Amino acid sequence: MKIDLINLRESFSIFEKEKSSAYLDSAATAQVPDSVINKMEEYYKYYCSNVHRGVNLQNEKSTNEFETARNVIQSFVDAKYVSEIVFTKNCTESINLVANGWAKHNLKAGDGIVLSILEHHSNIVPWLQLKKEIGINLHWIDLSEDGQLDMNQYEKIIEEENIKLVAITGQSNVLGIQTDLINIIAKAKAKGAPVLVDAAQLIAHKQVNVQKLDCDFLAFSGHKLYGPTGIGVLYVKRERQEEMQPWITGGGSVLEVHRDKFIPSETPSMFEAGTPPIAEAIGLAESIKWINMYEWKDIQEYESSLISYATEEMNKISSLKILGSNNKHGCISFILDGIHPHDVADIAGEMDVSIRAGNHCAMPLHTALGIPASNRMSIALYNKKEDIDLLIKAINKAITIFSK
Ligand SMILES: Cc1ncc(COP(=O)(O)O)c(C=O)c1O
Repeated sequence: MKIDLINLRESFSIFEKEKSSAYLDSAATAQVPDSVINKMEEYYKYYCSNVHRGVNLQNEKSTNEFETARNVIQSFVDAKYVSEIVFTKNCTESINLVANGWAKHNLKAGDGIVLSILEHHSNIVPWLQLKKEIGINLHWIDLSEDGQLDMNQYEKIIEEENIKLVAITGQSNVLGIQTDLINIIAKAKAKGAPVLVDAAQLIAHKQVNVQKLDCDFLAFSGHKLYGPTGIGVLYVKRERQEEMQPWITGGGSVLEVHRDKFIPSETPSMFEAGTPPIAEAIGLAESIKWINMYEWKDIQEYESSLISYATEEMNKISSLKILGSNNKHGCISFILDGIHPHDVADIAGEMDVSIRAGNHCAMPLHTALGIPASNRMSIALYNKKEDIDLLIKAINKAITIFSK
């Protein structure tokens, strides 16, 4: 279906009232179409029950919907087997599952993990924790002069160090850079190192195909993909599953339990102990059905027209500096001369324009850029040029107030 903004915005009750507001914080959490909310409401109203546990009709229906959701996600990311799709609580938990369920059992002191300076804290802290626990080394890819990841540095690290995992974002939540995953993964593979892709930001802006990428793990959250909070996904390639141990354990993740031992079940249940986020998984599948109504090329074309427009308008403000290079997708981060980002976000907030201020959970990146904080505006498919006009108005108001 072609993108028709009026029609598209009508699928979101939140945009019903034509008021002067702009939601430019979808990189934090995207708005949710009514179809997703209705689908989740249907679960609670008509067949609320646990999954894989009983034999009654309600249970059968919820199990069917839950497992169908897994199939929808499998085809969305083009995984070879449905069992490669593990439900988690969010992207952060997915990354922690790789750290605790795979890395902890396959890496030892002195082994190296490659990270990039673009990473979100969720793809840094689990590795710092592992460094503390088992003594692995972290190697960082910095930005080069042109504002892109320094691929020469990466190649040198891969050639010279004892790398056992590359954990890399597909799209920066601050600079909007899309990393060259195909190249990064190919170089890691040539040295036998598995790759984890943090697709938290990438997933709503570019088609992801795990078989084409040839990554080993890929993590994302539902709430940045027009879906509910409380649901995340970890794609785990079958070969890696065989190297994993259970992490969070308990009911639903075991075949047998005895006084002195337990036998874990097959994947993915082995990694889904306890009652899973049932309504949320079903809701996430519905959000994927919503985005699947549009062609990726149209999504990218429309979103890049918004980013270009915002860039042009921001460049007209002489005291505003956009962070990073032109390779921008989904968001633009910026700073204003002599005005604290929190003051800009406060003024924008008073005008009902939602943007972020702070380090956006990317403190090492901000340190590398030599700033403590920035503002970030981020877009989704429902944004319009008028949203950006409102933001520009808010920025100009902040300049008028705080430059006195
Ligand atoms: C690049 C990136 N990775 C990971 C995360 C963590 O996602 P969540 O908070 O849903 O676990 C975020 C959230 O902003 C992100 O932008």
